[in-house]
Amino acid sequence: MEIRLTPLSKKRTPADLLVIGFFEGSPLTKEAEALEPDFVPSVKSALERKRFSGKFGETVSAYCPELKESAEAVVLGLGKKPNHKHACIRKAAGTVVQLAQSRKAKSVRVLLDSFVGGDVTLQDAAAAFSEIAYLTSYAFDKYKTQPADAEKKSKLETVELLVAKSGAEAGLKKNIEWAGLVAQGTLMARDLINEPANILTAAKMVEAAEKLADKKSVKLTVLEQKELEELKMGGILAVNQGSVHSPALIILEYGAKYKKDGTVCLVGKGVTFDTGGISIKPSKDMEKMKYDMSGSAAVISTISALADAKLAVHVVGLMPMVENNVANNPIRPGDIIRMYNGKTVEVINTDAEGRLILADALAYAERYHPKAMIDLATLTGMCAYTFGDKAIGMMGNDEKLLARVKKAGETSGQRCWELPMWDEYLDSVKGHHSDLNNTGGPYGGTITAAKFLQEFVPAKTPWVHLDIAGTAWTDSPRFDCVKGATGVGVKLLMQFLSDWAK
Ligand code: BES
Ligand code: ZN
Ligand code: ZN
Repeated sequence: MEIRLTPLSKKRTPADLLVIGFFEGSPLTKEAEALEPDFVPSVKSALERKRFSGKFGETVSAYCPELKESAEAVVLGLGKKPNHKHACIRKAAGTVVQLAQSRKAKSVRVLLDSFVGGDVTLQDAAAAFSEIAYLTSYAFDKYKTQPADAEKKSKLETVELLVAKSGAEAGLKKNIEWAGLVAQGTLMARDLINEPANILTAAKMVEAAEKLADKKSVKLTVLEQKELEELKMGGILAVNQGSVHSPALIILEYGAKYKKDGTVCLVGKGVTFDTGGISIKPSKDMEKMKYDMSGSAAVISTISALADAKLAVHVVGLMPMVENNVANNPIRPGDIIRMYNGKTVEVINTDAEGRLILADALAYAERYHPKAMIDLATLTGMCAYTFGDKAIGMMGNDEKLLARVKKAGETSGQRCWELPMWDEYLDSVKGHHSDLNNTGGPYGGTITAAKFLQEFVPAKTPWVHLDIAGTAWTDSPRFDCVKGATGVGVKLLMQFLSDWAK
């Protein structure tokens, strides 16, 4: 995929499709008229006959070999200008890409200035097209031996952004590059998550990390079974006891030369499949539990994108990788295990496994003396019930860090909403025969899970926990995502880290 910037003044050959944005109640812009004069009568006639008014998603098109820019030109309604927001420009860009796909166009040309208005600047529009071109073109079809007709569509290769404003290109280029590499990071996460659990084991994730370390300037450390035993990582080892696959704690480090400015630790839940263990899950929807490693996928993909973006920040990503299965010698409810930080936990429910592996990784992160630590996990079904797919559940121990993450959430469109962490919630995970229980009863499950995690966060470490159970997967296709993994977290973390590096 190429996202190309072309000044309006530059000579060019026709593209396969031209798209111009149009605001309801505003006239066609001078630039649009001048760009394709032979198309203007069609648009005006559609407006006069009220066949088109510019409501969001409405279109007028003309197919005519005489047109200059492309044999087919489309005007796309964007709704009323004052309502034009970041979410709208992303959706509009998605419509453009889908339109191009439905026409089997290899190249689409867009008059970028015509998408600017309301809250949306030229920079925003450029970034949105770059991001969405990648996200909307994504498919996970490697296991289809015979792609369906609809999937045979020729791939969109070029999105060309025509810019009227002279001298704007240099600034736009940066936005396009940034949005593109964040989107590609998101697709990397989707690919890892959509990969089924018979293929994507901890060892496969280690391979992905090795590839990354070979290609980019990141340092890889892998703690395998033996080392995990030596370190007494009781949580990771216990959860993986029921698997025939080996566990791993993958550690990826980027930007060691910026260490003096402080380290950010990212921790991601990496359960390659969650059967629930002996406290087994109902079979309905269990196939989706391959997405229980979405946190770890977000972390490895963020590190990959970071290395491309060359941000000035020291980041250590920790990914505990296990499978929660009943195949080998699974943990039982009632088992008491000793965690890496020495605390003991009674396993009340083997399906509350995420917190057990995260606990060890969070405690282990102490050696990096992080100035901030963020974990991402598909931790509780309760979080998905609470927020649906509209927000990430956010909890933490530090107001400033919470505010920073919240802000990155608003900017990136991956919203984070805070839940309280009152001490009273800790009572329900206090143990009877042990220090802690791994579940806290039926109520407030998202919060009690976070309170459990907090017991393993190194002292004085600002920490935020993000529950992505509701946002990491979509059952119905969206304009920017097919059914399956969303890759949530990458854009959020990249926004957070770029703000952090400033
Ligand atoms: N991976 C699940 C959480 C989950 C459930 C994510 C549904 C996405 C969709 C997690 O390991 C789990 O099973 N949590 C339990 C905790 C309970 C036993 C306290 C849950 O949410 O039911
Ligand atoms: Zn579980
Ligand atoms: Zn789980």
